[in-house]
Amino acid sequence: MAILLPGGAGYIGSHTAIELLNAGKKIIIIDNFSNSKPEIIEKIKQITGKNLKFYELDYLNKDGLEKVFEENKIDAVINFAGYKAVGESVQEPLKYYHNNVAGAVTLLETMAKYNVKNFVFSSSATVYGNPEIIPITEECKTGGTTNPYGTTKLFIEQILQDLYKSDNSWNICILRYFNPVGAHESGLIGEEPNGVPNNLMPYIVRVAKGELKELSVFGNDYNTQDGTGVRDYIHVVDLAKGHVNAIQKLEKEKSGIYIYNLGTGKGYSVLDMVKAFEKATGRKVPYKIAPRRAGDIPTCYADPKKAKQELNWQATKTLEDMCMDSWNYINQN
Ligand code: WQD
Repeated sequence: MAILLPGGAGYIGSHTAIELLNAGKKIIIIDNFSNSKPEIIEKIKQITGKNLKFYELDYLNKDGLEKVFEENKIDAVINFAGYKAVGESVQEPLKYYHNNVAGAVTLLETMAKYNVKNFVFSSSATVYGNPEIIPITEECKTGGTTNPYGTTKLFIEQILQDLYKSDNSWNICILRYFNPVGAHESGLIGEEPNGVPNNLMPYIVRVAKGELKELSVFGNDYNTQDGTGVRDYIHVVDLAKGHVNAIQKLEKEKSGIYIYNLGTGKGYSVLDMVKAFEKATGRKVPYKIAPRRAGDIPTCYADPKKAKQELNWQATKTLEDMCMDSWNYINQN
């Protein structure tokens, strides 16, 4: 029995593929390389010394997807195939609703047809909008997303709830990621944003490397410890391991719908991140204070207790690991 990973060559998918292979699972990746490269598949094999099956395929291609289910004994699906650029989603909302929402529906229809009902979904803390309480528990109200990317995550969560209500033999785990950063310690895989990065860590790394002049800190007048935005940064390898625990949970439960925050429970400000990065790498990160960025919230960090109790998972890597591994990756590539 194998686990199918649509989008398994992407940033979080590739790190999860490694952790699943290391845990002795058989995996099949499908990816259309819209935001990744074929060599990632080879690197996953190189890092783990294990083999995997790969199809170059868009998960919206229903016939192609059905062929994958025909040719393999698939037990569970972890869906990483989604676009994730917040700004682009504002410019091109239909592209996001089509790929993320229609893609997920196509995948779920195909799963239902082949009676595969174990599903792990990559959701995001963005579904909480501007959170009511901090730290954020899974019971906090969702909604009020500030961009189409976030709304696709919210819609897919609702689709999964409706699906489970209609047929409670489904076994679904929704993982709400906080802010994934870092890279595999081998330096072979990591995050490769196209063009000028939007997210903080990839931007810091490029400033430290001298490829960008300085970091713009978006606002220093928030109600936070130093006025800059606070987030829950989580090492991508910790996050990847959370998916192995989610699969183990589904193996144990047989049916149900479960939701977990995957975060560290610690909030760091933008300036904390700059300082931590400088300390870990010995490189300077020049910055200037700039106006607030539209759609940003002041503070967002997880209460990760539920994942600890029910998944037996918690993040173990430090902020220093996150900085070092992000830096190593960019220097090796
Ligand atoms: C973090 C903090 C910025 C860049 C986004 C998505 C979310 C998730 C992760 C992914 C904020 C500040 C940033 C810069 C800055 N999705 N910042 N200067 O906005 O928390 O979350 O990425 O696939 O859904 O919304 O992450 O890294 O963009 O920002 O000052 O150049 O860094 O204002 O306080 P965010 P981020």
